[in-house]
Amino acid sequence: MRAIGLMSGTSMDGIDVAMIESDGETVSRFGPSALHAYREDEVALLRRAMEAAPALHSRTDRPGVIGEAERMSTALHAEAVNAFLATNGIDRNSVDVIGFHGQTILHRPKAKLTVQIGDGAALARETCIPVVYDFRAADVAAGGQGAPLVPVFHQALARALDRPHPIAVLNLGGVANITFIDGADDPIACDTGPANALIDDFLRERTGVSRDEDGATAAAGQVDEAVIGRLLAHPFFAQPYPKSLDRNDFREWVETHAWLAEKSLRDGAATLTMLTAATVARVVDVLPRAPHSWIVAGGGARNRSLVRMLAQKLRPANVETADRVGWSADALEAQAFAFLAVRARNGMPLTFPSTTGAPRPLTGGVLAKP
Ligand SMILES: Nc1ncnc2c1ncn2[C@@H]1O[C@H](COP(=O)(O)OP(=O)(O)O)[C@@H](O)[C@H]1O
Ligand SMILES: [Mg+2]
Repeated sequence: MRAIGLMSGTSMDGIDVAMIESDGETVSRFGPSALHAYREDEVALLRRAMEAAPALHSRTDRPGVIGEAERMSTALHAEAVNAFLATNGIDRNSVDVIGFHGQTILHRPKAKLTVQIGDGAALARETCIPVVYDFRAADVAAGGQGAPLVPVFHQALARALDRPHPIAVLNLGGVANITFIDGADDPIACDTGPANALIDDFLRERTGVSRDEDGATAAAGQVDEAVIGRLLAHPFFAQPYPKSLDRNDFREWVETHAWLAEKSLRDGAATLTMLTAATVARVVDVLPRAPHSWIVAGGGARNRSLVRMLAQKLRPANVETADRVGWSADALEAQAFAFLAVRARNGMPLTFPSTTGAPRPLTGGVLAKP
C-alpha cells in the first residue's frame, strides 16, 4: 500500500508529512517527506488547548478552546496533505491511506486518559483519501498506556539494519522514547524522560526563541552535576517499563530542584541538555540488556550537544543519528504513522504488552472513508 503519515508532536513545531510503500511488515520504498511549519498564532492556540486539557474527564470531550483548536488542527493537516501532493506531483487516487495521529493535548496514563485532537472523518472528506486515526483509543480501552506506538515501526527498520543487537532506537521529540530491539521478540519500549521540551521552554522564556539551534548554547555552558543528581531522584526514572509521559510532567520538578533562575543561559541549557542524556542512560538499568547500537532520531538528533552528551553517557555503545544509518531523523515518526495505518488496515497488531502494557498484541485505529 501507498501510505501518507501525519505527525504533530508535543514540540508543536509543525506537521511532519511522509509517504512510504509498505505491506505492514517491511517498507519497500521511502517516498518524500516535508514539514508543514506552524505560525506563531497557530502554536498559541494549540498551547491554549493544552493548558485547558487537564480539566478533561473524557477523551472525546471538546469544550471551548479545545474544539476550536481541533477544527484548526484538522484544517491545517488537510492543507499539509494537499500541499504535499501538489509539491511532489502525487495523484491522490494513488494513495491508499493516510495515518493521522492528531495533536496530543493530554496524556495521563495512570488515569488511562490520552487525548488527541483531530477529526479523521473531516480529513478524509477534505483530502478524498481514506484516513486511519485515533490510534491510541483501542489500546487505552483495553487497559494499555496508549503510548508509545512507534516501536513496531522501529523494529521493522532495525531488522533490516546491519548493526549489532540489541539495537535501541531513541526518538527525541518533546519527550524521549526508546524502542529496544533484540532479535525476533516483540519490541520493548517506553518513554525515558524529557527530550527537547524543557530545553525549548527554557530558551523561549529567556530569549524568545524556542530551541537551542544545533545545541550551540549548551555547548558553551557548564553542566551542574549536582542539579542532575537531584533531578534523577524522580521516581519515574527507576520505574520498570511500560511507562509514558506527558510533555509537561517534569516542569514542576525542574522548577523545584534545578534553580535555573540562578543560572546563566548557557549553563541552564547545558544542564537541561545533560538531563536528557542522563535520563536516557538511566533507562539502560530497566532494560533486559545494555544496547550495543543506538540510533537517534527526532528533532533532538540535530542538537549536537545532546548527541555528544548521549555518546558520552552511553559509552561504550555506538551512538549514531538516524540520518547516518540511511533513515530520516526528521520524517521517522510521520513514516511510522503511515506504517501503522497500513497495519491497521490489515488488522495487524500495533501495540504489545511490552510496549504499552496492553493485555495482548492489539490492532487499533479508526477508519474514516471519504
Ligand atoms: N537544528 C536544531 N537544533 C536544535 N534542536 C532542534 C533542531 N531542530 C529541531 N530541534 C528540536 O527538535 C524539536 C522538534 O522535534 P520533533 O522530532 O519534531 O518533536 P515532536 O515530535 O515533539 O514534534 C524542536 O522543538 C527542537 O527542540
Ligand atoms: Mg515535530
